[in-house]
Amino acid sequence: MAHLVAPSLLSADFLHLSSDIEWLNGSDADWYHLDVMDGVFVPNISFGMPVIKAIHEQAAKPLDVHLMIIRPERYLQDFKEAGAAIVSVHYEACIHLHRTLENIRSLNMKTGVVLNPHTGVQLLEDVITDVDLVLIMSVNPGFGGQQFIENTYEKVARLKDLIISKHANAMIEVDGGVDLQNAPLLLNAGADILVAGHSIFSAMNPAATITALKNID
Ligand code: DX5
Ligand code: ZN
Repeated sequence: MAHLVAPSLLSADFLHLSSDIEWLNGSDADWYHLDVMDGVFVPNISFGMPVIKAIHEQAAKPLDVHLMIIRPERYLQDFKEAGAAIVSVHYEACIHLHRTLENIRSLNMKTGVVLNPHTGVQLLEDVITDVDLVLIMSVNPGFGGQQFIENTYEKVARLKDLIISKHANAMIEVDGGVDLQNAPLLLNAGADILVAGHSIFSAMNPAATITALKNID
C-alpha cells in the first residue's frame, strides 16, 4: 500500500489556521496530525478541544490526534466529539493501555499507541494485534523542529519484524524531524505514515514538499 503523509499542524500559522487548512485540503496530504500537549507529560502546552473542533469544521481529511497527556482515558469521548478519526496514546502515559485502546475502538476511532525514543518495541508484543497503528517518536515529544534521532531506522525495522511475526495489521507512523532526506530510509525500514511539521511548513513551497514526500517510491 502507498504510504501516507500527515502534516503536523503544530507548525501551522495559528493566526491564519483557516488559510492553512484551505491549502492543505487541496494538497496531497492524507491526514492532519494534531499534537495535544498538557504541560505535564511533555514540557509544553499546545491546544485542546475547541481548536480541534474548529479545525474539524473545515478539514477535508481525517484528524490524526496525538495525545501527549497523562491519563488520556479521561478525554476519549471529548476527542471523539471534537472530530478525531484516529487517537494515539503514549505507552508511557497509560496504566491500563489495553483498556484504553478498547475504549478508543468502542468509540469508533482508529487506535494508535505511541512510543517515546527510549521505549522498546518489544513492549507491544501483547497489544500489537489490537492497534491500527504504532507511532514511533523520532524526537522526544513536546516541540516541533527538533533533530531526528538516527536510531529510529533500526527501531522501525524491529517493529516491522514484530508486526509480521504476530500476523498483525498495524501501520507504522513516524513523528519528529522527518524530512525529504530521511523519509526514503524510513519508508525502506517499513514506515507507512510520515508526520512532518517543520520540514513542510518552513519550506519555500509547502504543498510541493507534501507532494515530494508522497512521491517517494
Ligand atoms: C512533537 C510532535 C510532532 C511535531 C513534529 O512532540 O509530536 O508531531 O509536530 O514536528 P517536526 O516535523 O517539526 O519535528
Ligand atoms: Zn505528533
